[in-house]
Amino acid sequence: MRIILTLTARAAVLALGFLFVPLGAWTLPVRSQEPRQITVKARKYQFDPARIEVKAGEPVVITFVSEDGSHGFGCKGLKLHTDTFKEDQPEKVTFTASTPGTYEFKCAHICGTGHHKMKGEIVVVP
Ligand code: CUA
Repeated sequence: MRIILTLTARAAVLALGFLFVPLGAWTLPVRSQEPRQITVKARKYQFDPARIEVKAGEPVVITFVSEDGSHGFGCKGLKLHTDTFKEDQPEKVTFTASTPGTYEFKCAHICGTGHHKMKGEIVVVP
């Protein structure tokens, strides 16, 4: 009798274990609502990556890191901009885009002869 009880208890523990595995997996989509972290490198005269794809409704943090002096970031369509950033001083923008589309962004700090060519796009997909 005691053995049977023990076996039953073990079975219960096992069953609970199996229950918790799917429960754990179930909570993952909730965790993914933590902002998606994207790092963009800036150098004369490009952003890398220059094309950033995000989902509508997805919280996003973009960190801009310079590899050669001062640059900036401005995206009028999404009403985003950073202060000037430098090698030792990255800048971040936090946003959740709601309207699908392609939004051009530009360097927002005059960084040299190719400054006006330093562009990219944020593509918001449904
Ligand atoms: Cu980089 Cu202007």
